This record gives sequence, C-alpha cells and structure tokens, in this order.
Amino acid sequence: MVSGGGTNLQAIIDGIEGGSITNTEICLVYSNNPNAYALERARNAGIRSVCKSPKDYESRAAFNEALLETLKESDPDLIVLAGCLVVIPEIVVREFAGRIINIHPSLIPSFCGTGYYGLKVHEKVLERGARVSGATVHFVDEGTDTGPIILQKPVMVRSDDTPQTLQRRIMEQAEWKILPMAIDLIANDAVSIQGDRVVINGYDDKILQEL
Ligand code: GRF
Repeated sequence: MVSGGGTNLQAIIDGIEGGSITNTEICLVYSNNPNAYALERARNAGIRSVCKSPKDYESRAAFNEALLETLKESDPDLIVLAGCLVVIPEIVVREFAGRIINIHPSLIPSFCGTGYYGLKVHEKVLERGARVSGATVHFVDEGTDTGPIILQKPVMVRSDDTPQTLQRRIMEQAEWKILPMAIDLIANDAVSIQGDRVVINGYDDKILQEL
C-alpha cells in the first residue's frame, strides 16, 4: 500500500528480483493517490495495481468497506504499508490481524504517533536537536505507530541536515534495508508475535550482523 514516490516499493521489487527477498510475490499495489509515482513503478514491474481514493466515496465508512474488499480480493498473506498515508481502518486491521507491517522513518517510540508523517517527522527531530534518528518496521495494530516492533536501524543526524537531507539518508541507510529484510524474515517464518513483542529466529547471530 503506497501513496507517493514508492522508493520503498522499489526496494521490495528489487529485493524480490535480486533474490534477497525469497518466498515472496507482490499480488497487488494499492494507492489512494492516482498521481503516486509508485503506481508507475508497479506498472514498470508488471504488477497489478489499483487506486481508490477516499475522495471517490460518499463517506469514510463506504471507502473503508471498498478498501477492505479490494484487499480481501487479492488474498494477501502480508500487507506492507510502504509510505501509505491512509489511516488503516479498524475493519482492515481486524481482518488482517498480525499480517500488516509499516515502515516509519524514526526510531519508535520517538517521533511517532498522530501528526508524525513524511517530512514532519524529520522537522521535529531537527527541532529537538536529536543526534540520532532512523527507521522502524513494526506490525500495525489499532493505534498509530503502536504495534510490535520488528526491526530498527539508527542513522546519525548531521549538524547541517535539513529535513530533506535527513529524510533521504534515513531512506537510503535504513528504510530500504530493514523493510525488505522484514518481509524476507516474515516470508520465511522467522518472525512471531509474543505478547507485545516480536521474536525473530537468528536475530542476534545473523540479522544484527547484517544491519
Ligand atoms: C518514507 O519515508 C516512509 O518511511 C514514510 O513515507 C515515506 C515513503 O517514501 N512512511 P516512498 O514513497 O517509499 O518513496
């Protein structure tokens, strides 16, 4: 599920093609935004895509139902929010409990929650004078950025960073690595949710070295 440029989607497509993500195929790319470049990336890769915007529906409830139907039709094992700005409705979270993951461009629980999306996250990091930021892949629950954490990677903040330069570095150094990695781990049954936490087989021996 995407809304914008789709560089995270591209990292997933490249990971599947290059063999770093195994047991995985993308059955559908959903966008709420008809102008998202992510849709172009899907077309270029020969992946089915669909665009449904809340604006096309008379109520939010009607959109939510349509979104749920769209997702159910493609019967995914996993839903990946790869820069998706639509608030995922509860009916979707419940239907796909424990099967939705999101990439957030900070080290949760810092700089996350309502209002922390896109460049705003990085603006707040710089305003606060934080010396380190990064990215987090987590499971999606009913809250905003509150679900169990799967992977995180830190990125140092530079004194000359702008929100734009920090955003770009976090994508390059963290997001495009940990999102494909999380998908590969889930696709190979290495990830389980135990209470509020995630357990990953081989985390200390293998994953930590690669990060
Ligand atoms: C990324 O920073 C992601 O963490 C955030 O939105 C941005 C999406 O970028 N949720 P892209 O569309 O994958 O290029």
